[in-house]
Amino acid sequence: MNNFSKLKNKKVLITGGAGFIGSSLAIALVKLGAKVTVLDAMLSLYGGNMFDLHDIKDKIVFIKGDIRDKKLVVKLVKNKDIIFNLAAQVSYLDSKDLPFLDLDINAIGHLNVLEAMRRYNPKAKILFSSSRMVYGKILTKPVKESHPTNPLSIYGIHKLLAEKYYAYYHQAILMVRGSK
Ligand SMILES: NC(=O)c1ccc[n+]([C@@H]2O[C@H](COP(=O)([O-])OP(=O)(O)OC[C@H]3O[C@@H](n4cnc5c(N)ncnc54)[C@H](O)[C@@H]3O)[C@@H](O)[C@H]2O)c1
Repeated sequence: MNNFSKLKNKKVLITGGAGFIGSSLAIALVKLGAKVTVLDAMLSLYGGNMFDLHDIKDKIVFIKGDIRDKKLVVKLVKNKDIIFNLAAQVSYLDSKDLPFLDLDINAIGHLNVLEAMRRYNPKAKILFSSSRMVYGKILTKPVKESHPTNPLSIYGIHKLLAEKYYAYYHQAILMVRGSK
């Protein structure tokens, strides 16, 4: 029995699951026997590609939708055991010209998922992928997690903001779990 065997029959939501990392994760989780739902907005600027899910298309639930859609997010978060929240505007260069889009997806979209989880499914586990861009200019190597964070891009600022949301909700949800 390894830890991966615990994923069998687990209900997993992968946001951004048609993207580079999400699609590989979806394939791996299906192999492990997890029940995978992919939520992806298939925004043309980013890496979502149905071809990458082709081999597992009959074994997953695919929903074309957006983490900015609060109602949909609540519906999908409600019954899941694990959420991989990978949906993102992924370009630090684009974030300069599209700062509000970056805020909407990389911060508010993630806040939607966290808030749905706190309200309706605090027992679920959630995973967030931040970015090295939160660190900005590197002062000491190797870069430890405790390295100062001074992001030099809007993308890095919003990834750092999202990190703070996750840290806050980790505490808030632990309190909800503790009070039940
Ligand atoms: N690939 C890397 O090297 C790397 C490094 C650091 C962090 N990350 C983070 O990992 C995550 C996945 O990155 P990736 O490389 O697979 O990117 P990707 O562009 O291949 O995948 C992102 C997916 O998110 C989807 N998406 C975008 N906005 C959405 C929204 N509002 N609602 C639902 N889906 C939406 C896109 O359609 C796309 O399929 C991102 O959060 C990214 O910031 C990636």
